[in-house]
Amino acid sequence: MKRLVLACCLVLPLFLAAPASAIDAAAADALVRKSKCMTCHHKVKEKDGPPFAETAAKYRDKPEAIDKLTKHVTVPSKVKVDGEEEDHETLRTDDPAAVRNVVEWILSL
Ligand code: HEC
Repeated sequence: MKRLVLACCLVLPLFLAAPASAIDAAAADALVRKSKCMTCHHKVKEKDGPPFAETAAKYRDKPEAIDKLTKHVTVPSKVKVDGEEEDHETLRTDDPAAVRNVVEWILSL
């Protein structure tokens, strides 16, 4: 029993020390692929939509970044691609934490 208590005392602080919202890049990457975002976006290359790294640079120091991008990736909108109006895809999930993870991931690129 003493050993167990000791183990808890040693291990628990490691979990508590981890940042509360560490970005899960693999999950974010999987969700944007599943949501077809990558047909128009790339992390760093120019496609029909701006590279995510460019969006990150544009919003990095803006306090409204999270709100604006969350709206952009969850509320359907129209974008112009080669002069034609197209539907802007939204993330295919109902989980706000998964959306937040993608937004923070984009901002980290
Ligand atoms: C049909 C092509 C297309 C698809 C699919 C698409 N996008 Fe976009 N996206 C665009 C274009 C074009 C813009 C630029 C719009 C503008 O600046 O008005 C854009 C802009 C953005 C921006 C920058 C917004 C800003 O305010 O600067 C983000 C972030 C983004 N898209 C994320 C996503 C995500 C996440 C998905 C998948 C759920 C997605 N896009 C799917 C074409 C697309």
